[in-house]
Amino acid sequence: MSRLPVTYEWTAETLATRFEQTYGTHPSIFRAPGRVNLIGEHTDYNDGFVMPAAIGFYTWVAMSPRSDEAIHARSEEFDEALELSLQELSGPPRHHWSDFVRGVAAVLQSQGHEPQGANLIIEGQVPMGAGLSSSASLEVATALALLGESRAGVSQFELVKMCQKAEHEYVGTRCGIMDQFIAVFGQEGHALMLDCRTLESEALRIPQDARLVICNSMVKHNLAAAGEYNRRRADCETGVSILRRSLPQVRALRDVTLEYLEAHRSDLPEVVYRRCRHVISENQRVVDAADALRCGDLDHFGRLMRESHQSMRDDYEISVSELDLLVEIASESDGVYGSRMTGGGFGGCTISLVQSQWVEEFQRTITQKYKDATGISVPVYVCSAAQGAGKWPS
Ligand code: GLA
Repeated sequence: MSRLPVTYEWTAETLATRFEQTYGTHPSIFRAPGRVNLIGEHTDYNDGFVMPAAIGFYTWVAMSPRSDEAIHARSEEFDEALELSLQELSGPPRHHWSDFVRGVAAVLQSQGHEPQGANLIIEGQVPMGAGLSSSASLEVATALALLGESRAGVSQFELVKMCQKAEHEYVGTRCGIMDQFIAVFGQEGHALMLDCRTLESEALRIPQDARLVICNSMVKHNLAAAGEYNRRRADCETGVSILRRSLPQVRALRDVTLEYLEAHRSDLPEVVYRRCRHVISENQRVVDAADALRCGDLDHFGRLMRESHQSMRDDYEISVSELDLLVEIASESDGVYGSRMTGGGFGGCTISLVQSQWVEEFQRTITQKYKDATGISVPVYVCSAAQGAGKWPS
């Protein structure tokens, strides 16, 4: 059973001490959180709705300026150092953590925000490959560090979009906007209902007596998952291009109703039809879930979470048996409103909404039952919604 790591103060002090030992100077410190998505999966790149919350795991980046045109970066997690020249940032993904640093620096440069030379130490505390958005947290924290204290007039929206671009062009995943958005705009105690077309968001308070319990299946999503992710996105685009023949105003699956999809089912390849059905029904579930949260109806919210999981399992085919098992165990446990896989899929975590007084019992049950069935000890993270990215201390 694991909980959030040591205090933030301790993390920042230890990082600063290591930085001084490595580079001989005191750093500025920036951080950006991971996230859990409560509902609304694979809807963001379809101009749809999502409902993520930032969680209390952060990627921390300590920075001091350099006088030359180089970035010297050290990753504590990988115990590796690298040197980049700001004059040679282009190139294809190398499938290495340096892609993120290089990508963010390159995008800042291409958008005219000339990053200066910098020494960096990166301390990532968001579990990797777990669907908790360690990538976006690294991108956002790195971008903040490279922009430095002044942030060079870059707005929060620009920051979000530049980090997404870095992921598309330098990491190779054609991700939506959700992860970078919540890393920047996360609000303590709240989930954000985000319209990915307009980028309007509404902060929805998560009731005090409910906890976000994240169970890590320990099945890591990997490069193959990035290929599957891009394939799902391509399936949606195929759906849109076919549906647009009869309804030209369709720009994205956001513009299609379930009734319309059903009426045109025979126009679509079976797989594309099911992909579209997931996205369209999932969008509606997010809208309904926001209503449920506004009026404190967590039972309804939980039912929508379960339906979301079924749709991801059967129509979008992004779940794996270990995630299905975790959801099944959660659904049979006392005090659980609802449970579903969260994030891109093909491994990673489930999110369960659990009544506070049942959390410990739930942790015991799910740990025991998952271990009995799979032999794996499931890390369980009990979270509250956390604050988005910024300088530390703020
Ligand atoms: C990944 C992507 C997001 C989103 C989710 C699925 O986390 O980075 O943009 O598409 O998958 O909802």
